[in-house]
Amino acid sequence: MTEDRIHRNDLRSRIISREEAASRIKDGMVIATSGFTKAGDSKEVLPALAERAITDPLKITLMTGASLGHGTDGKLAEAGALSVRLPFQVDPILRRKINEGEVLFIDQHLSETAECIKTGHFPPIDYAIIEAAQILADGSIVPTTSVGNSAVFCQLARKIIVEVNTSVPLSVVGIHDIFSAGTYPNRTVIPILSPDSRIGRPSIAVDPDKIEGIVWTDIPDSPADTASDDDATRNIAGHLIDFFSWEVTKGRLKESLLPLQAGIGKVANSILRGLVDSRFHDLTMYSEVLQDSTFDLFDAGKLNFASGSSITLSQSYQEKVFGDFDRYKHRLILRPQEISNAVGLIRRLAVISINTALECDIYGNINSTHITGTHMMNGIGGSEDFARNSYLSIFVTPSIAKKGAISSIVPMVSHVDHTEHDVDIIVTDEGLADLRGLAPRQRAKVIIENTVHPDYRPRLESYFERALKRGGHTPHLLEEALSWHRSLQETGRM
Ligand code: COA
Repeated sequence: MTEDRIHRNDLRSRIISREEAASRIKDGMVIATSGFTKAGDSKEVLPALAERAITDPLKITLMTGASLGHGTDGKLAEAGALSVRLPFQVDPILRRKINEGEVLFIDQHLSETAECIKTGHFPPIDYAIIEAAQILADGSIVPTTSVGNSAVFCQLARKIIVEVNTSVPLSVVGIHDIFSAGTYPNRTVIPILSPDSRIGRPSIAVDPDKIEGIVWTDIPDSPADTASDDDATRNIAGHLIDFFSWEVTKGRLKESLLPLQAGIGKVANSILRGLVDSRFHDLTMYSEVLQDSTFDLFDAGKLNFASGSSITLSQSYQEKVFGDFDRYKHRLILRPQEISNAVGLIRRLAVISINTALECDIYGNINSTHITGTHMMNGIGGSEDFARNSYLSIFVTPSIAKKGAISSIVPMVSHVDHTEHDVDIIVTDEGLADLRGLAPRQRAKVIIENTVHPDYRPRLESYFERALKRGGHTPHLLEEALSWHRSLQETGRM
């Protein structure tokens, strides 16, 4: 068993307990761990560190690929063990600590963390904690269900602790494609010409002398939250699929569409599921997170190939997919996030990106991260890596939130993640606004007519008409532009 997973005698003698591994981490250290949207994260050392921090206070800077599972971020935050966290999170306890100002959160484009580390914008990494399916004879690490930033972490960390996870089948060996374009000013091209291009090696190169300890685990990834489709998500999916059909009719898309990216959350997952029963076929994905819907599309014979940085599945899909992984593995690649999210590749491949907004404004600016402009939700993730560079940049959102107390279309967004210049299409359950080639005044008309819930439409029409009288390229009533958010704060309704 140990021999199957670790192909070097010298490393097999470095197996230590989770507590022993956690004890190596000292106050003030910079720790970098594997993990991308719950997949392939540290199941032993970080939770052991959180337990230790309750009686032995310490604070670390923690960087990852993206979010962690098993409430690990929350446990660390609750124990007061996080001083700085980047680049993404989804944990309710950590979210509260960020919004209370106790944890400093660097909300970063997911393609950029590796860049910032390589260029020395962050302090050096003391320990990388990396989940592995296998350690090969040359010391290199085969990752598990995600790649994230693990390659750059292994390259630049002073020391490495590996968590070998036996719950991950060895059949994952071969799905990873590890490539680095090098460092400035002599970076090379990334020779990906289609989602199935293989350009790197199947394991992460590691200097075996840096591996200080190996911890054994059999804990699977935290299951993704499942939310069944509702009327709003079904309607959004329907509008979008009608739009794709229209684009095919106009000759701007083929029935194979273009490589798809879908963001996190129930709406994006539901839209991909909607493609299962559509006319489209021979689809491909060039995305970050491969969710349940990716495997629905494989099973329906609709999807030819999927490239991402992680596989994040619900409990029942974990059993189905990893129980019979040979069925899928030849149609999958997991890449470092600096490659899955490389902005030049997204433009080259002409990706269709579908991401979720918290709110949109009448000119097409999008807020995906900040409730009422101040309170962090999750983070921007990779959404802007894709939105800025896609062939079609699509944002989806239900037209109302909190049972109608909030309109998702507002006069002016309270925080901007994706500017009006980056957004092509906005879709709500009410309809679809195609903003391509429109000037701001035209965009406002199309957005108000097509995407706003009827309860809020007359107020937005009135706002826009009155703003037009003031003039301007992008007319606004500045004294009123954020009044809907102020009302939400004061009364609980917009
Ligand atoms: N104001 C206040 N709250 C709002 C809101 C608004 N305008 N719009 C939605 N919400 C609330 C919802 O009511 C819900 O609250 P609850 O958890 O208390 O029920 C919560 O925000 C999440 O909304 P939901 O409709 O369940 O959407 P989701 O699960 O699809 O997530 C985002 C939506 C925007 C939070 C999520 O997609 C995200 O974090 N996006 C940014 C990162 C990203 O796009 N990554 C993709 C590439 S990595």
